[in-house]
Amino acid sequence: MFNKKLSNYYSIADLRKGAKRRLPKAMFGYLDGFAEDGVCGRRNRSAFEHYQLMPRILVDVEKVDISTSIFGQKLQAPLICAPVALPRLFHHQGEIAAANAAGKSGVIYSLSTLSSVDIETVAQVPGPKWFQLYMYRDKGLVKEFIARAVTSGYQAICLTVDAAIGGNREHDLRNGFSVPPRPSLKAILETAFHPSWCWDYLTKPKITTANVSGDRVAGKGGKTTLLQYVTEQLTPAITWKEVEWLRQQYDGPILIKGVLRPEDAQQAKRLGIEGIVVSNHGGRQLDHAPASIDILPEIIDQVGDSLEVIVDSGIRRGTDVIKAIALGAKACMIGRPYIYGLSVAGQAGVEKALALLKEEITRDMQLLGCASIADLNRSYLWYRR
Ligand code: FNR
Ligand code: LAC
Repeated sequence: MFNKKLSNYYSIADLRKGAKRRLPKAMFGYLDGFAEDGVCGRRNRSAFEHYQLMPRILVDVEKVDISTSIFGQKLQAPLICAPVALPRLFHHQGEIAAANAAGKSGVIYSLSTLSSVDIETVAQVPGPKWFQLYMYRDKGLVKEFIARAVTSGYQAICLTVDAAIGGNREHDLRNGFSVPPRPSLKAILETAFHPSWCWDYLTKPKITTANVSGDRVAGKGGKTTLLQYVTEQLTPAITWKEVEWLRQQYDGPILIKGVLRPEDAQQAKRLGIEGIVVSNHGGRQLDHAPASIDILPEIIDQVGDSLEVIVDSGIRRGTDVIKAIALGAKACMIGRPYIYGLSVAGQAGVEKALALLKEEITRDMQLLGCASIADLNRSYLWYRR
């Protein structure tokens, strides 16, 4: 059951099942779960069904070009690995495995501030990388993060603004999920059914927030969930002033992640920001927030000609990527899909997740009768709620 060959995984959904088998319940719950009732999380998937694909017939699709470029960086596909906290919870090689897979697959890897391998070590891995910034209460620390990211060669900074406090993830509380993982007596029994994860947990270095030291390390003040840590350490008082401050600190490309209102996209543009990520954090923060893909067209209509617009939340198939690009997005971020792969088989699993998406995008472009993602536009979509 545990060593199913990667060639037998045919979709991201298959990798999700594999991740569920390999991970203890508390880790899988943190990875897969949504905030509160999961309304936003489910809509992230169902919203893609509003858009139907309109194939054009008798177009030469022998060769299909799915490459793109963003901030001058050429990508093999319009995909970006989203920032994810503590990837080592899911596989002991964590960020190193994921960044290597992203680099080999010709897509961007984004490193979370809350990473389990530090900024400098991940920077050694070949391939384009972005640094995702969380605004800690201590601005001195944030300044340090920016300097470390710049010195070690990250190509852009992505400021996430939809998680100033942790979302309400009841499953984490119910499962006794903590950082670093310290399974309760009840959980030890369940965890023992996941021997490969347990072996790594017992024999590999401790899993924790690698970019900070001393009292700022997660779990220092006693047992805590990652979201309790976020609420303690990050500032909920973050405003556009911090965006202006960041703009003064850093002259490379800045993206704001967590934009859902067109007027907020406009404001980012006015402050000289280069890009936005239209995102509801994968349904993990505010339940009942709209699906990113539903809100995307309005945002594109207002700022699409002057900002790079990335979209995430719920992307699981090549057709989802095609719809997002046809609506005007430059690329899609994927979070859980590559982490499912990481959980199943480390670097090879992430490569598998990315390969599946690239194959699906290519095949679906051929079936759609469109030979280049640069040619995708809204005429390929038919919309009905
Ligand atoms: C995240 N996400 C996230 N975002 C961010 O800016 N910083 C972070 O540290 C994290 N951490 C994190 C952990 C885990 C386990 C997940 C699944 C997600 C959100 C992530 O970047 C992205 O917005 C969503 O994952 C996109 O939705 P999908 O692709 O998972 O549906
Ligand atoms: C999450 C936070 C940490 O989504 O970004 O779990």
